[in-house]
Amino acid sequence: MSSSLFSSIALGDIALANRIVMAPMTRDRAGPGDVPTALMVEYYAQRASAGLIVTEGVQPSLVGKGYWRTPGIHSDEQIAGWRAVAEAVHARGGRIVMQLMHCGRVVVEANRGFAADVIGPSPIACPTPVPGPDGTPTDCAMPRALTSDEIPALVEEFAQAGRNAMAAGLDGVELHCASGYLINQFLNPASNHRDDAYGGSVEHRIHFPMMVLTALAEAIGPGRVGFRISPGNPYNGMDPTDPAATFAPFVKAADSLGLAYLHVVDMGLAELDTLDLLRANFSGPIIANNNLKAESAAALLAAGRAEAVSFGRAFIANPDLVERIAAGAPLAKPNYALLNTDEAEGYTDYPSLTG
Ligand SMILES: Cc1cc2nc3c(=O)[nH]c(=O)nc-3n(C[C@H](O)[C@H](O)[C@H](O)COP(=O)(O)O)c2cc1C
Repeated sequence: MSSSLFSSIALGDIALANRIVMAPMTRDRAGPGDVPTALMVEYYAQRASAGLIVTEGVQPSLVGKGYWRTPGIHSDEQIAGWRAVAEAVHARGGRIVMQLMHCGRVVVEANRGFAADVIGPSPIACPTPVPGPDGTPTDCAMPRALTSDEIPALVEEFAQAGRNAMAAGLDGVELHCASGYLINQFLNPASNHRDDAYGGSVEHRIHFPMMVLTALAEAIGPGRVGFRISPGNPYNGMDPTDPAATFAPFVKAADSLGLAYLHVVDMGLAELDTLDLLRANFSGPIIANNNLKAESAAALLAAGRAEAVSFGRAFIANPDLVERIAAGAPLAKPNYALLNTDEAEGYTDYPSLTG
């Protein structure tokens, strides 16, 4: 059964022992300087039996930070912090890629702890509030529109972040192109009103995202670069209509790079079979996500609709999710009130089946 949850697979240059992936989850536990902490090392190590861990969203630069206590990958201290995470996961036989998440316009300035620009494709604020330092929903800042002259340096920031992730010993990176963050802001007409080479037609809207993917592939090798999309997701002010018009050409263009994988948050759209659309336009491995259970995940693999599956919330309270699924054991429920504290409680204190 080559397609079972427990069979091995290669995603580009990354060899997975099983097809159960831990989805990226922001948990707000970074220390001063947005450096990964020993607590984060423990958290990821506990979950190393996943075939692949995708880290929480990590900012490639100061300007990429929008949320409270999120980690970065642009300083020596951050690289050292991530090295400890990667070593702990590898010591337990796991694999780990870093999600590169540039928030773009989704920024509450009080979350940063430093002064920096807020940028976006156009001067249009994110219409929905996001949590501030105390968790209270807070209006996002008005972004400054990037000039076209600034784009090459921004692309290089992503490439450098990719190199930094590799220097820290991670197995690769996943570019966050989903959920209304910077890459998605360029893709979507609600946040991109540009009339230059980066906005307007779909060819122009995918231009910057493709520049970043291309630069990452050149920087660390295409077999170590994945990307994540969420077609039809209205989160953070995205226009959810007609996602196929943008995502078919985007995914098709990305396919020419020979990337490690495409990770999709399948919104279960009534009007579009997202997995079919992606299969028709992307020849590499697909990781499917969203609301999956062991049975539905196994069915997707058995039907050949995806090569791997990812679970987010199920990994919060079940560090040994892979072993629990294998044993048919019940899953523990997370305490959502403790998601975004800076404590071990509700983070590293969920026991595995064996204690
Ligand atoms: C606490 C939490 C934090 C999340 N943070 C991120 C993130 O940093 N990047 C991202 O792409 N998705 C993020 N997500 C979305 C998850 O990766 C996943 O798509 C979602 O939870 C649906 O999968 P599930 O039904 O298996 O939980 C987050 C989800 C949760 C619950």
